[in-house]
Amino acid sequence: MSKIVSTGSYLPADIVTNTQLVEQTGIDSSDEWISQRTGIKQRHFASADESLAHIASKAVENALERYGQDIRDEINLIVLATMSSHNPTPAVASQVQDILGIKETWAFDISGACAGFVMATEVAEKISRDYTSGYTLVIGAEKMSSILDFSDRSTSILFGDGAGAVLIQNDGQGLPNYRSELSSIPDRKDSIVVDPESDETDKMTMSGHDVFNFVVRKIIPSLSRFIQREASDFDYLLSHQANERLVGIMVDKLEIDVEKAPVNIDRTANTSAASIPILWDELIQDGTLKLQGSQKVVLTGFGGGLSWGHVTFDI
Ligand code: ACO
Repeated sequence: MSKIVSTGSYLPADIVTNTQLVEQTGIDSSDEWISQRTGIKQRHFASADESLAHIASKAVENALERYGQDIRDEINLIVLATMSSHNPTPAVASQVQDILGIKETWAFDISGACAGFVMATEVAEKISRDYTSGYTLVIGAEKMSSILDFSDRSTSILFGDGAGAVLIQNDGQGLPNYRSELSSIPDRKDSIVVDPESDETDKMTMSGHDVFNFVVRKIIPSLSRFIQREASDFDYLLSHQANERLVGIMVDKLEIDVEKAPVNIDRTANTSAASIPILWDELIQDGTLKLQGSQKVVLTGFGGGLSWGHVTFDI
């Protein structure tokens, strides 16, 4: 079978606490409100001259260094999920390829907002079955600070910048015990929108309340059915980090130990498509997850679209 052989992540150096964000932006909010409603205590923000492609490249560099072999000439496919690219072309994946000196290969982006990394995993897993050797890179990367309206307290407090990357060694058979379920429904209420052509704002607007209800009423029940059907013996649930309360509701609904659904939103905030691979890499680094073929993970992502996806496989 194909296998995950390395992970990497990157968080920009600049850490902004809730109190600092409130002071810097002048929004009517507080550390108490933000941490009680979301679990977020701080976020990392990239500097103005640190591009999305550089953020993504640092995570990939980290994954390649950890792997310990120079395999840049053996990568067959790069799939990158993001919602904060300002470049329709070239793809951020192509820019990463250029920055890191990866040989001629297939590279493209996926726009799936907070479900993007799960979509990228699904697409990469399916396509990489065509390759009996070499490697596939799956990346989630965001510079959310570049699309935030810092005068809007309902969105500016939620998001952070960062990237995560996963390296798959291909053998043409896909990841062990891979199962998936992905879907989208039209966002008729414009619950999450970034519209650069809008006359009103080119920044993100979101009805957090609508998204919260959508996750509770639609996504968590669908996750529960998926797990019962495909992964009742899973070891860890790596959820998109949107709100700590949402992960708490998942834990209750699934009737699982809280340790099985780890969170890092307190330190990273919501990094959209990057949240799952950043969390994944942290769990590898602290020894919770091991790339030894003995653990089953479930990934769940949800958000703009409205889109969502659940995948499970053995790592
Ligand atoms: N500080 C203080 N008060 C605030 C803030 C803030 N930062 N933001 C909103 N409020 C106020 C509102 O104005 C409202 O006041 P009102 O009652 O006087 O009208 C009150 O707090 C309650 O607002 P709600 O939106 O109902 O608050 P809620 O408890 O739902 O929490 C939150 C808001 C944190 C955004 C929550 O809804 C949430 O996490 N939603 C999910 C967002 C999400 O998951 N997004 C993921 C997808 S993102 C993507 O795909 C890009």
